[in-house]
Amino acid sequence: MAQSILDAELGDLEGIGPATEKKLRDAGVESVLDLAVALPEELVEVIGGSKENASALIFTAHRMLKESGLLDKDFIPAIEAYQRRQTMLRCTTGSQNLDDLLKGGIESQAITEVWGDYGTGKSQLCHTVCVTAQMPSAKRGFAGSVVYIDSEGTFRPERVYQIAQARGLDPEEVLKRVIVCKVYNSPHLELVIRNLGKYIEKFDAKLVVVDSIISLHRAEFLGRGTLAERQQRLNRLVHRLLRIAEIYNVAILVTNQVQAQPDAFIGDPTKPAGGHILAHACTYRIYLRKAGQQRLAIMVDSPYHPYSQTNFAITEGGIDDPEIKRNGPVDSVK
Ligand SMILES: Nc1ncnc2c1ncn2[C@@H]1O[C@H](COP(=O)(O)OP(=O)(O)OP(=O)(O)O)[C@@H](O)[C@H]1O
Ligand SMILES: [Mg+2]
Repeated sequence: MAQSILDAELGDLEGIGPATEKKLRDAGVESVLDLAVALPEELVEVIGGSKENASALIFTAHRMLKESGLLDKDFIPAIEAYQRRQTMLRCTTGSQNLDDLLKGGIESQAITEVWGDYGTGKSQLCHTVCVTAQMPSAKRGFAGSVVYIDSEGTFRPERVYQIAQARGLDPEEVLKRVIVCKVYNSPHLELVIRNLGKYIEKFDAKLVVVDSIISLHRAEFLGRGTLAERQQRLNRLVHRLLRIAEIYNVAILVTNQVQAQPDAFIGDPTKPAGGHILAHACTYRIYLRKAGQQRLAIMVDSPYHPYSQTNFAITEGGIDDPEIKRNGPVDSVK
């Protein structure tokens, strides 16, 4: 990452005087990167003034990032976009089958969402990538550490230990590079995500796991009257995550719960929770399903992967390939 941009003071930015700089710092916005991932409404709360003014400050921060090559410029030939995507990092999920579904693994600069019923392997995948993300790129890892945000209280360091051991890595070294944050309520989750950039830099993280993204908001905002606010806050949360993924070149893996769809007469009567807010913000959406003893993964939504299906296994070493591998169009794999 270009050092100059990280060293740049907020006060160097056009439109930020000493008083504004102090207000921003007091609110935890300490760098150009922090400003770039801020949202106009929040800035208004911190520094006062109009939303337009706040948007202009964020725009200036974006311009600096674009000039230093951390963000794409507004108009670029597609060949440049293509070349930039070639530098994007990919990390193995532990299963070749699942990697093939993702055309090589979990991508940086994107949010990958896995959703499915209880026990389908969402948290197992999260635990497995805590290990694989630390492997060198020659072994299809990110060679970086992991920030793990646990909103369901289901993170188990001993499971990471077991997976690392089964994969021939030093379990204690692996555990040192998984930074866990247990969150207790939705404002806490929002605060942690607001400060995520700082943790990514501090721990040199290449992967952020959020298990799960919606459970707290879902539990706290009950009833129709609160739905609009819940969706608005989730919207901010996931858009901030997406910006963080792009600016810091990290992969973001989030899990999501299912929502019953009692009016569905054909097909699977479940859908991911969170409605269209999550659907639009997540780059890739993978549906996990149990089929007898085995697990199926379906690529439900992606800008460039086909709608396809594969199978995987959960083993002592975490997510792995099943004995008999099956790939193909959806419903051809049973
Ligand atoms: N050490 C292990 N070896 C093999 N399989 C395991 C092991 N640990 C857990 N599992 C399998 O993983 C399943 C649990 O998966 P996981 O915890 O990922 O579910 P989930 O999709 O996160 O569900 P929830 O929605 O309840 O959080 C168990 O049913 C078990 O079959
Ligand atoms: Mg789970």
